[in-house]
Amino acid sequence: MHAEIVVLPGDGIGPEVTAAAVAVLRAVGERYRHRFTLHEHAIGGAAIDACGEPLPEKTLTACRYADAVLLGAVGGPKWSDPRAKVRPEQGLLALRKALGLYANLRPVRPHPATLGAAPIKPHLLSGVDLLVVRELTGGIYFGDKTRDADSASDVCRYSVGEIERVVRRACELARRRRGHVTSVDKANVLETSRLWRETATRVARDEFPDIVLEHQLVDSMAMHLLSRPRAFDVVVTENMFGDILTDEASMLAGSMGLLPSASLGDERVGLYEPIHGSAPDIAGRGIANPCGAILSVAMLLRHSLGLALEADCVEQAVSAALDAGVLTADLAPARAASTAQVTAAVLEHLTADCHVAELRD
Ligand code: NAD
Ligand code: IPM
Ligand code: MN
Repeated sequence: MHAEIVVLPGDGIGPEVTAAAVAVLRAVGERYRHRFTLHEHAIGGAAIDACGEPLPEKTLTACRYADAVLLGAVGGPKWSDPRAKVRPEQGLLALRKALGLYANLRPVRPHPATLGAAPIKPHLLSGVDLLVVRELTGGIYFGDKTRDADSASDVCRYSVGEIERVVRRACELARRRRGHVTSVDKANVLETSRLWRETATRVARDEFPDIVLEHQLVDSMAMHLLSRPRAFDVVVTENMFGDILTDEASMLAGSMGLLPSASLGDERVGLYEPIHGSAPDIAGRGIANPCGAILSVAMLLRHSLGLALEADCVEQAVSAALDAGVLTADLAPARAASTAQVTAAVLEHLTADCHVAELRD
């Protein structure tokens, strides 16, 4: 197959983990005879430095015409002055909004080799397999904002339609998993959450009678996620709760550097990025964990290109590298491998072990 893929490295460790992900993508293309045409563009702080805006028109246009977009991370101290007029993060938010990517899929599956790295007791972690579906283009991120000398406001707004479509997507995904959806809100306090709960209940009842839907308040959910993570299958929630809960959930896997994501809408193009940020504290040292970015390539292959077998191969190659103990400093500080060494290990396993796609030929 032929696919046009836009690559947006961004800032901090973004370019480092993106280089690893691109190497894996190219290897998949060569090995399984797909033609992936890659187009690199600027976003975030790098784009502000280059042309004064975090999402240049040229970048957005390229993304609109692509089959998929692969992104590293944006942001960093250089552009973080609270009084700054433009911010790198605005570029990412504008891109998600412009492409209509309302459903952000963030799978969490602790790997046996990294259980020891997690700050949670291993017996709570084995068998954990959850998928957070984070609403991505609404809520407090996109409501009106005001600022004057002694006050500021951010409006949180959701429409019924915005809630329906993401809950529907979560229920559809649950159908292909264990058929269980946990909807997370703060309905004891927030009006948007009461609308969220009412809408989720109706969508599940009318359209997904085969799905079991439960509701959790976000504060206690933050606890349940750590105390009984195996209890969850698909978790659907609004934009900001999903952002926070998934950083928390990354500790089930052992590191922020391990979690991938896919942002999907109703159009063809999808955006794929690790859930972590630009990690200014480790940027430029070649030690960032590239697995979240590489696993985002697997999600890209599966969700945007329909290459499920190749996606399985990439996931298996990452697992094999972790099993072999090739781990970055976030997972194994005492005997750390570099970003390049982990990437090489993944590429090696991809070439040596994965014959799934050949079976199809
Ligand atoms: P962060 O995710 O960048 O880092 C949090 C901690 O996790 C740091 O200690 C970092 O070293 C570690 N970490 C993150 N990714 C890692 C990896 N791949 N390998 C090893 N360790 C890793 O969060 P932050 O420090 O709060 O934010 C830094 C900047 O990133 C901010 O400007 C923020 O806005 C931005 N950010 C961007 C995205 C994105 O582009 N999608 C996501 C989150 C944060
Ligand atoms: C993420 C990030 C972004 C978000 C920021 C950088 C805008 O934290 O992708 O999780 O909050 O969505
Ligand atoms: Mn985040």
